[in-house]
Amino acid sequence: MYGEDREINIDMLRIPLEFAPGVKIRFIGREIALRKIVEWSERGVGFPIVVYGPEGCGKTSWLRQSIKILEKMDYKVIYVNPAEENFENALIYTEDIKDIIREVVTQGLQHIEISMSSLITRLSDLVFTIAYRIMKKLRKPKIAVLIDEAFQRMELREASSYVKSLLNMIEHSSYEYDKIIAIVATSGGAFRSEIGRHMWAHIMSMWNMSENDFRELYDQIPGEKPSFEDVWRITGGNPRIFRQLYSMRWNIDDTIDYMVRSKELTPDFISRWRRSLEEAVEDPDSIWRSETSREFIDELIRKNLIVYNLYERRPGLWIDQPPPEKDLEIGVGRYVAWQTPLYREAVRKALKKIDR
Ligand SMILES: Nc1ncnc2c1ncn2[C@@H]1O[C@H](COP(=O)(O)OP(=O)(O)OP(=O)(O)O)[C@@H](O)[C@H]1O
Ligand SMILES: [Mg+2]
Repeated sequence: MYGEDREINIDMLRIPLEFAPGVKIRFIGREIALRKIVEWSERGVGFPIVVYGPEGCGKTSWLRQSIKILEKMDYKVIYVNPAEENFENALIYTEDIKDIIREVVTQGLQHIEISMSSLITRLSDLVFTIAYRIMKKLRKPKIAVLIDEAFQRMELREASSYVKSLLNMIEHSSYEYDKIIAIVATSGGAFRSEIGRHMWAHIMSMWNMSENDFRELYDQIPGEKPSFEDVWRITGGNPRIFRQLYSMRWNIDDTIDYMVRSKELTPDFISRWRRSLEEAVEDPDSIWRSETSREFIDELIRKNLIVYNLYERRPGLWIDQPPPEKDLEIGVGRYVAWQTPLYREAVRKALKKIDR
């Protein structure tokens, strides 16, 4: 058993991650975010925590690292990620609840002709069955449910009621538990606004890696690479973009072209919003002005290009280190930020390429 004030050694628990095929690294940094997990595990949470952050900033890695810490703190952990393709990554759980998991999964599979892949899509719901069964079978357990990409296949309204069900589990479970932690991660900006309208969750933001953590990651990647300053300027600390650059052999131009395609920066999109985009490339806070078209903002949010309505940089609102107050070099404004500077460069390039 672990006393309330027992220091746990987080560094001993750091998990291996695959940065690229054949390049294994350990989970790096995120000291504050990991300390938060320890804190929550000591007292449980009163509300579901909804974590919102840019695509590829490291939400999944942090949750998967958190499993280890929570288990060390005596929690039974269920992690689900309905966006995963393979079942082993979509459902991860503490070894000693495997019988309960098997029971629930087998029952789930008995319904009509459900395949493994459609079972993955139902994992967000099955989490409740699993958690309640753990409470029923074990005496006053500590339970953590970590739901990654929970809203992947949901409408906005469904997402709110999902969060409400988590709150119900915390507030009104008919079974007894000792402590409970419920964390939901999403990169969908629209979900954050929708969930924010209710008082059913504690919403927290996550940002790309801090410069110090990112430097440590940079140092661990083998081979020749551009200078740290160049990599920082183009990724803004986003480890997924860093990985993308690595796999494209540091060819920044090709990576930008790839983003123009994958973010669908089409001639239509560019011509329609040219003026606003030109301003946003210079300073994302231009989007914050009251006269900005809501449709334009929603498009940028939907394409996951920006984070709109950045929280104040108070520690309680951020899972880890917040972004700088304002740093135009990496596309961070006071109220609006490019998710990574690379996206801004993709927009800049599309603006140049597509005729007026
Ligand atoms: N703390 C970290 N230490 C080392 N590598 C990391 C860390 N965080 C993230 N990474 C690397 O960055 C990549 C992207 O991170 P991850 O998948 O966790 O982001 P995400 O926020 O879940 O993305 P998405 O929004 O697409 O779900 C991972 O493949 C991982 O290798
Ligand atoms: Mg993820």
